Amino acid sequence: MLYNTSPDSLFLPQQSNIDPLGFGKVAIVTGCSSGIGLAVTQLLLAHQFQVCGLDVAEFDYHLLREADHGKFHFHKGDLTSPGIVEEGVRICVAGFGPRIDVLVNVAGVMDNFSSADAVTDEVWDKVMAVNLTVPVKMMRAVIPFMKEKKDGCIINVASTAAKSGAVAGVAYTASKHGLIGATKNVAWRFRNEGIRCNAVLPGAIDSSIGKRIAQGGSSNAGSAWDPEAFAEIEPVHALQARPSETTPTITPHEVAKTIVFLISDNARTINGVSLPVDKAWGVV
Ligand SMILES: NC(=O)c1ccc[n+]([C@@H]2O[C@H](COP(=O)([O-])OP(=O)(O)OC[C@H]3O[C@@H](n4cnc5c(N)ncnc54)[C@H](O)[C@@H]3O)[C@@H](O)[C@H]2O)c1
Repeated sequence: MLYNTSPDSLFLPQQSNIDPLGFGKVAIVTGCSSGIGLAVTQLLLAHQFQVCGLDVAEFDYHLLREADHGKFHFHKGDLTSPGIVEEGVRICVAGFGPRIDVLVNVAGVMDNFSSADAVTDEVWDKVMAVNLTVPVKMMRAVIPFMKEKKDGCIINVASTAAKSGAVAGVAYTASKHGLIGATKNVAWRFRNEGIRCNAVLPGAIDSSIGKRIAQGGSSNAGSAWDPEAFAEIEPVHALQARPSETTPTITPHEVAKTIVFLISDNARTINGVSLPVDKAWGVV
């Protein structure tokens, strides 16, 4: 097994199965403290990357093998606060030297499903800031290092909501659609400078955002769930978001494996794509 079913336990890869893809390389992962970002961090470390993790929430080092602690540096901060993106990159360079080979933009927040007639300024501003502005600022901060080496790989974690208008509220949907636009723009602009930029579009994932949706819970954008708007979306979610024998939830490590594939040489001609990781939910 290359991955655990949940990243919320100590990650113990079978080293014999894992190639040293990241030997001598540095990756930055935003949203590293839980869910998909945690799984990506665990898997990149297993592939021998040095990883700088950025998150507003505390990181639990018990979830990493002790052997990996020296290859991991965590910096706590709200990436939407002024200067924190640049500070994170500065700290990465101070710890691992002046190279950034990989950026994985994972940090994100769900909205409260509110529609265009009801979305509050608070929800709109927060969701756009975390899900769209931060990834673009992160790319702005790391691209100079990638240009310098004429080599680099960026993965933006979008969502089925980046293509569909029927799975989230207006703020989340617009933020993830925007992230696809930014991904394509970066892919084209820097295609001749050795930099690739791709997006993954997870469906319903067994992590905190996915669990909150499956349980009909609340958003993490600081506002109450909008039941009227959710009622319009619920039938689409029922096709995947609730685990059953025929529609098992996808694990964070399965998303992380797809991200590692996109980072690897096997994907060297893949640039500017939006790759669903959703067991066909996105074709509905
Ligand atoms: N879980 C799903 O079903 C699902 C589906 C599609 C897309 N996604 C996307 O995947 C990504 C990760 O989702 P997840 O389910 O692992 O969620 P999660 O809540 O487990 O992890 C998100 C992480 O981002 C961090 N974060 C949030 N705001 C931040 C900020 N301002 N500064 C720094 N860190 C911040 C959180 O602290 C958290 O550790 C998100 O971009 C989400 O939109 C998730």
